[in-house]
Amino acid sequence: MRHRFFGWALFLSLTALVTLVFAHEMTGWIAPVEARKVKNPIKATQPSIQKGKEIYGKKCALCHGIKGDGNGPASVGLNPKPTSFKGPHGHGGQISDGEHFWKITTGRGGMPSFAKDLTEEERWYVVNYINTFSKHP
Ligand code: HEC
Repeated sequence: MRHRFFGWALFLSLTALVTLVFAHEMTGWIAPVEARKVKNPIKATQPSIQKGKEIYGKKCALCHGIKGDGNGPASVGLNPKPTSFKGPHGHGGQISDGEHFWKITTGRGGMPSFAKDLTEEERWYVVNYINTFSKHP
């Protein structure tokens, strides 16, 4: 009897583990619809991009890489990896400015929340800078 109980316990915990790992892989990080629709109030002018670049160099490059490819020195050991802004997560990808802004504000896992660390304006500057990593379609 004891034997069988342990068999089941093992089976159930394995199932739970596999489900958890799977659920983690499956959940892409998606901002709420309202957040995605928010328009960037700050035009991507040269001064705004320049300010964004300075902030990025100080607060983001460590993880996301100076070139925005997600390969910063602190990315080692992070899972999931810091996002590369070169691909679909860059300008012209499926990710809107509003969504980037929301993610920078909220944070998740390895990605810190910048709600307190950066003002709203600063967060938009950095969004404008991130957008320079990938070409406009
Ligand atoms: C300590 C490392 C770290 C720092 C510092 C950091 N990030 Fe991240 N960032 C991450 C990780 C890891 C993810 C992926 C999180 C996930 O998918 O759960 C991420 C995800 C993101 C995303 C979401 C991309 C997407 O579309 O899913 C954005 C936008 C972002 N970071 C911007 C920034 C900006 C801007 C800064 C600086 C102000 C910054 N990050 C600083 C680690 C970091």
